[in-house]
Amino acid sequence: MAREFDVERVRKDFPILSKAMRQGASLKYLDSGATSQKPIQVLDAERRFYTESNAAVHRGSHLLAEEASEAFESSRQIVASFIGAAEDEVIFTKSATESLNIIAYGFGNPDSGSLCLKPGDKVVVTEMEHHANLIPWQQLCKRTGATLAWLSVTDEGRLDLSHLNEIIDSSTKVVAITHQSNVLGTINPLDPIVARAHEVGAVVVLDACQSVPHMAIDVRELKVDFLAFSGHKALGPTGIGILWGRAELLDEMEPSLFGGSMIESVTMETATWAKAPRKFEAGVPNMAQAVGLAAAINYMSDLGMAAIHAHELALTTYALDALNGIDGLNIIGPNSMDSRGGTISFTIDGIHPHDVGQVLDQDGIAVRTGHHCAWPLMRRFGVSGTTRASFHLYNTMDEIDALAAGIKSAQKFFKVD
Ligand code: ALA
Repeated sequence: MAREFDVERVRKDFPILSKAMRQGASLKYLDSGATSQKPIQVLDAERRFYTESNAAVHRGSHLLAEEASEAFESSRQIVASFIGAAEDEVIFTKSATESLNIIAYGFGNPDSGSLCLKPGDKVVVTEMEHHANLIPWQQLCKRTGATLAWLSVTDEGRLDLSHLNEIIDSSTKVVAITHQSNVLGTINPLDPIVARAHEVGAVVVLDACQSVPHMAIDVRELKVDFLAFSGHKALGPTGIGILWGRAELLDEMEPSLFGGSMIESVTMETATWAKAPRKFEAGVPNMAQAVGLAAAINYMSDLGMAAIHAHELALTTYALDALNGIDGLNIIGPNSMDSRGGTISFTIDGIHPHDVGQVLDQDGIAVRTGHHCAWPLMRRFGVSGTTRASFHLYNTMDEIDALAAGIKSAQKFFKVD
């Protein structure tokens, strides 16, 4: 039987949540889309690594090196089983941004065989990508002469799939798409997109930064070919990201970072590469951060991803209801619970998002304001920015009440109520 999700119990694991904010206000942290807070279990795991096992992995012949390598590799196992992957398919990077860049660089290297793009090939993205899953593809197209195309976004904040078969056509080699929009909260319908991409022989790269921390993910069920996510949005440390790819594709793709640990043999003139994942992990990796990410994953797994997801859906339902009750507030993105996660963007008539953010900050309410690293999406909706509340497992209905009250205070302050 599923255990009840006890948010008050969970909150006790996050020391920062009891921090006193301006004028002694309690913290209402509604900015987990930008970065999540970390439970004590993650902080302890990192500290334990440094105090008990710190050494460079895969190098030394001493006890510490052995323990560090063991901790690092068992972290890989934990990540792999969390996303339904084989261990050798999981690569530690420094961030999701680095993961996506490694793929995009790999696809521009002639030594990557059939994965290498050429003039006439097409890369398809969507209008709702954040910059990390847009600019690397723009640059890849610039380097290779391939063209960039995209699926546009409807007024409701959904992908427009009405021209799917024309946009993803036989020249398409890559489809790079976000699983859940960091701005709109939209969860994209992967099945028809992946099916069409595979029908024309394209690989699918999934940006899962905003989904992996919030719902159960199985890469085999999603049928994608590559996936990237960051540790810091998943209750883990900064400085650690994951790149997952199908074994046969990782085998074919060239690395883009070169140095120690990723080689098989080296002469003065040339070098050959180790097999994945090592091929993509040049240099001493972010070891303590990998161990911290594994602790974060264990923390979420112990609570259960289904329970976390259900809690966040309940918060989002409550928040949509509260925000829709405010005159002059416009939700940017799906205004129903159909295929959406716990990220809500909105504008307030007559008040700039930065001003909304500043008023909320006076009450200890932390939200993100601005373009959310998704400038083209802002243009699509004709706004310079939005205010965004994004939830995680530690948020409460009371915090959403505080958000609604804070917005009404901002309207009073700026005399637009
Ligand atoms: N993509 C991150 C955000 O949405 C940085 O805030």
